Amino acid sequence: MKWVRRQINNLQPYVPGKQVSGSVVKLNANENPYPPSSRAMAVLQDFNSDSLRLYPDAVSGKLRETAAEVFGVNTEQTIIGNGSDDILTMIIRTFLDEGDSIAVVDPTYTLYETLAEIQGAETEIHPLNDDYSIPESFFKTESKVVFLPNPNAQTGTLFPTEQIERLCGNNNSVVVIDEAYADFAGISSIPLIKKYKNLIVLRTVSKSYSLAGIRVGFGISNPDIISALMKVKDSYNVNSISQLIAKEALLDREHFNCNIGKIVYTRNWFAKSLLDAGWKVTPSEANFILAEPVDDSPESIIKKVESAGFLIRYFDTPRLKNKLRISIGTDEQMKLLLKVIKF
Ligand SMILES: Cc1ncc(COP(=O)(O)O)c(C=O)c1O
Repeated sequence: MKWVRRQINNLQPYVPGKQVSGSVVKLNANENPYPPSSRAMAVLQDFNSDSLRLYPDAVSGKLRETAAEVFGVNTEQTIIGNGSDDILTMIIRTFLDEGDSIAVVDPTYTLYETLAEIQGAETEIHPLNDDYSIPESFFKTESKVVFLPNPNAQTGTLFPTEQIERLCGNNNSVVVIDEAYADFAGISSIPLIKKYKNLIVLRTVSKSYSLAGIRVGFGISNPDIISALMKVKDSYNVNSISQLIAKEALLDREHFNCNIGKIVYTRNWFAKSLLDAGWKVTPSEANFILAEPVDDSPESIIKKVESAGFLIRYFDTPRLKNKLRISIGTDEQMKLLLKVIKF
């Protein structure tokens, strides 16, 4: 269409995992199968609906303070987004001019490339080695912004902290470590923000807090970068109900720890069971497993599990097309899925 920018006319939009209602077991978008904290849910009962007449706090002040406390940083080192995807958009808009480039690995979260394309920026792709380790070229990139999820999206593998430090040591680039899944791995690059002025760490309530629906994410970096991001964020980017729910969820550490414990336990036995069934399983530190069936094609497994009421994720890309990505559900759901897969 002639009025639409060239980049948008040519854009292949990001495709999220299918959303469905009904009795399907959704294991295709790395959502959490357990309910959110009851302390967080009490916000909905106690909410004064008259306050909805007013705009929300533009900087999510109280939530920022709580996030700073929980992540062990100062308030000025934090920014709140409408999901961490919103902070990815702010980053792209803050650092990239048309014609600049970002660097990513492959496979990874494909939204980085989509957002760069919308901005008119290029994407430099560094294929991961066969064991999913980082190739040497990635450490030497001259791209303005480097995006790396840790654990990595789609593979679930964890990159060691020394390699994150090596990336940050390359002063050409702003380094974004996307920790959407880090709570399931139990390690974080947040402590490195004191040492590296070019580092931004992202967190979210979508996975480990069972709150994908409220759309809240966190950016953690030095105050100069945070001030720059604040200038480009939408004025009222996080709604008032979500600010309150996320704050209570962050404070409910007992619920959080219990939730993580259950997912990690289930992930570990499920991965082992797939291995025992002969599948090739990538060691995962996230809330999903990337695995390759041996006797059946991915397509036939998908058919089998869909007819039994399960949704899992398939990516038709060169590095992933023999594999399936399965989010970790409850113990009962995963036992049932295993039966369906095996027979
Ligand atoms: C690596 C990665 N980053 C970010 C997101 C999006 O997180 P949020 O729900 O906070 O926008 C996802 C969602 O699946 C993801 O896999």
